[in-house]
Parts: sequence; C-alpha cells; structure tokens
Amino acid sequence: MIHGLIILIFVSGVSIYLTACTPASNSTSRSAQYVVESGISEGKRWRDNRHFAVEVKTEALATDGIHDPDNDAIHTLQEPAEALSAFPLSRRGDVDWVKALDLGIIEPRADLLEQGQMTVLDMDIMFKDTGQMPWVKFPHTAHTQWLACSNCHPAIFIEKKGANNISMDSILAGEYCGRCHDKVAFSLWTCERCHNVPHEGTPERWNESLGIPPNPTTAN
Ligand code: HEC
Ligand code: HEC
Ligand code: HEC
Repeated sequence: MIHGLIILIFVSGVSIYLTACTPASNSTSRSAQYVVESGISEGKRWRDNRHFAVEVKTEALATDGIHDPDNDAIHTLQEPAEALSAFPLSRRGDVDWVKALDLGIIEPRADLLEQGQMTVLDMDIMFKDTGQMPWVKFPHTAHTQWLACSNCHPAIFIEKKGANNISMDSILAGEYCGRCHDKVAFSLWTCERCHNVPHEGTPERWNESLGIPPNPTTAN
C-alpha cells in the first residue's frame, strides 16, 4: 500500500515541488522518494533548452551496492537523483559539471580549508589527428578550475604541444585523457565534448546530430 503526498510551495517566485511516497511498513525497499526543484532552476532551464535533454542517470541509494537497504538509517540520506535533479546534463544523462560551474551552481574550493586559490590557465590546445572526427580542443581553463598543473604535468602529459603520442586507442585503454575521463570526469562515449571543432572532412550529419554548428569558418 502506498500513500502518496504532493506538496506545492511557492516562496517568493521559487517553486519547491515535493512528492513523497511511503510504502507498507514491512517493505524492505526505500520508504521515501523525493523530487525537489528549487533555487538551482538555471541548470534545469539550460538542460530543457537542449534537444537531447534527458533524466539524470544515477543509481538509487538502495541499489547502489554501497548502502545497506535494510538499515533504516538509509532513509536519512538524500537520494542522488533528488540532489542532482536540476543540474545541467550531458546527452547521456550524466551531470555536466563544467556547465554547473559556469552557471554558478557549484563553487568548488581550492583546498579543504579554503585558504588557497586555483591557478587558472586560459590556453586551448588543438589536436588535429582525428580523421573525419571533429578536432579535439583541449581547454586548460575547464581543467585548471579544479586541477593543479601537477595533476597532469609531467606524469600524464609532457608540457609541450605535440610531445605526447596520444591516440584514441591509448585513451580507451586508460592512458592520457583516459586516466580521468570515463573514471572521475565525463564519459568517453560523449565523443562530441572532446571532438568539438568540425573541419572540412567532418560529415555534416555528425554535426547536426550533436547540435554542433555547421562546418566552421573558425577552425584553423
Ligand atoms: C576525453 C576526450 C575524448 C573523447 C571523449 C573522445 N576522444 Fe577521440 N580523440 C581524443 C584525442 C585527444 C585524440 C588524439 C588526437 C591527436 O592526437 O591529434 C583522439 C583521436 C581520435 C580519432 C583519431 C584516430 C585515433 O585513433 O587516434 C578517432 C577516430 C576518434 N578519436 C574517435 C572518437 C570517438 C568515436 C569517440 C566517442 C566514442 C571519441 N573519439 C571520444 C580525445 C577524445
Ligand atoms: C588535465 C590535464 C592538464 C592540466 C591540469 C594542465 N595541463 Fe598543460 N597541457 C595538457 C595537455 C593535454 C597539453 C598538450 C600536450 C600535447 O600537445 O601533447 C598541455 C600543454 C601545456 C603546455 C605546452 C604548450 C605549448 O604550446 O607547447 C604548457 C606550457 C602547459 N600545458 C602548462 C600548464 C600549466 C601552467 C598548468 C597549470 C596551471 C597546466 N598546464 C595544467 C594538459 C594539462
Ligand atoms: C587529471 C584528470 C584529467 C585528464 C588527464 C584529462 N581531463 Fe578533461 N576533464 C577533467 C575534469 C575533472 C573535467 C571537468 C569535470 C567533468 O567535465 O567531468 C574535464 C573537462 C574536460 C573538457 C570540458 C568539457 C566541456 O563541456 O567544457 C574537455 C573538452 C576535456 N576535459 C577534454 C580532455 C582531453 C581531450 C584530455 C586529454 C588530452 C583530457 N580532457 C584529460 C579531468 C581530466
């Protein structure tokens, strides 16, 4: 037996939308599910404006293999799907953390005690050995907002343009970009987030399907 409850609250233009369900007492499944949308509606608006907007893809606490679903304390925790409900998403339904940062939804600290500042470097590196795939524009900015230079230089990349023999094979095997992407950073299966600069040889089809503007005048 499920008791449903829907509460709608409007606080100075901000709407909080809450749905709670309480299953029968002898059930071992989650006893509460919440969907809350509030202040961070910016992210949701951005996401809804994209033609490939989807639900956030995340595991529920009870089935994530980390939390014990039979322990009552689980009900005191916030569900990831609720916490992330208004974040901007990638095509695959992962949170787009770069966009979340740009929109001011999150403000990461440089260190635990919030004493230091990140050294942000505004320098893009273009990788052009990509066949028909759009070129890869590596943005130092998006990385150095949360990573120190020493996270990458010199252990993962020699600090010189063209000095690293990077290929898609090696990335998929977990080297170079693959040291982080598909692990702690966005998935390798959103190709277009890296291969984002179309060139003469890139089929228009590819650009259209991913919402990338038509072949470039800017590419060089
Ligand atoms: C994390 C960033 C990233 C993602 C995501 C990514 N690539 Fe790449 N890809 C690269 C880089 C960097 C190169 C090397 C380019 C160079 O050396 O000039 C590359 C090279 C390539 C090449 C050229 C041939 C080769 O083996 O090096 C192809 C084809 C390619 N990628 C296809 C894909 C496809 C298809 C996807 C999605 C399934 C994808 N890539 C996702 C970064 C990425
Ligand atoms: C996420 C990894 C990453 C981080 C963090 C990072 N870099 Fe880089 N850096 C790269 C890559 C990739 C290249 C290109 C290497 C190539 O072309 O083979 C590069 C290239 C460079 C180059 C060579 C440019 C040229 O034209 O030859 C310099 C200088 C550099 N980085 C400085 C820095 C500094 C300073 C920081 C910290 C503020 C930093 N990088 C942080 C990945 C990173
Ligand atoms: C040390 C870890 C690390 C390495 C190595 C790394 N990245 Fe990243 N990258 C990140 C993180 C963290 C972010 C931001 C969080 C996220 O998007 O998941 C990011 C973001 C990006 C973005 C920004 C996407 C956007 O939407 O603005 C691009 C593009 C990118 N990486 C490409 C690359 C490429 C290409 C390489 C290899 C040449 C590479 N990264 C190597 C950790 C890394």
